[in-house]
Amino acid sequence: MVKALQVAIDGPASAGKSTVAKRVAHDFGYIYCDTGAMYRAITWKAMQSGVALDDDAALEALLAKTTIAFRAGEPEQRVYVDDVEVTQAIRQPDVTNNVSTVAAQATVREALTKRQREIAAAGGIVMDGRDIGSSVLPNAEVKIFLVASVEERAERRFKDNAEKGIHTPIDVLKEEIAVRDKKDSTRKISPLTQATDAIKVDTTSLSIDEVVARIDEIIKKA
Ligand code: CDP
Ligand code: CDP
Repeated sequence: MVKALQVAIDGPASAGKSTVAKRVAHDFGYIYCDTGAMYRAITWKAMQSGVALDDDAALEALLAKTTIAFRAGEPEQRVYVDDVEVTQAIRQPDVTNNVSTVAAQATVREALTKRQREIAAAGGIVMDGRDIGSSVLPNAEVKIFLVASVEERAERRFKDNAEKGIHTPIDVLKEEIAVRDKKDSTRKISPLTQATDAIKVDTTSLSIDEVVARIDEIIKKA
């Protein structure tokens, strides 16, 4: 029997992690877990509830009584917070620009890391985020670190936003991405970093198909 592996895909904002992770999971019949959506969901909930985004104790209490669930959906997984669908709401710019503050809080990371390890325990999973290979699943058989130039990533985000009717100028997006990358990679607890045993894939000039093919090959060899 083919072993059900743990595949960790990390990298900075808009490097293509979720698009590629979903496709790779489909190719192997694995579960896909978007850990960024979990951080976005608790950020959304905190904003709705008026909880300060850097109040670690209040966030811990809020997380303890909040259910975050994924349900299958096309073209994307649907995300629910306490049975309210938040799939679109958690991708809005206000959540995007606040999520790094919430994600830097110790107890939030501890609680979500625990949930992520439970989800991944049986293997057969592709999990994407910032600290999956370096912290959440240190023993994952496959670790990928996806990167792309900030210009390319801002352009990708610009196109994604345009489809949603959001028209933030590209220079503003570039700045927002750079600020978020800096916050994510300089925080004290499990910052965005390439695990020593991760394979770096630069997607700047690669198509989605090319990136997926490359990762599928790496998994087949693992
Ligand atoms: O899709 P995008 O690259 O914009 O971000 P995301 O994967 O949805 O993650 C949103 C934010 O959640 C990141 O900027 C991080 O602050 C945080 N995050 C994290 O700290 N650790 C993870 N494993 C995943 C996301
Ligand atoms: O999850 P992450 O923020 O890393 O990126 P994403 O939301 O999966 O991808 C951002 C956008 O880049 C999506 O619209 C993709 O279609 C596009 N893209 C990509 O993911 N990979 C490429 N090689 C080229 C474009």
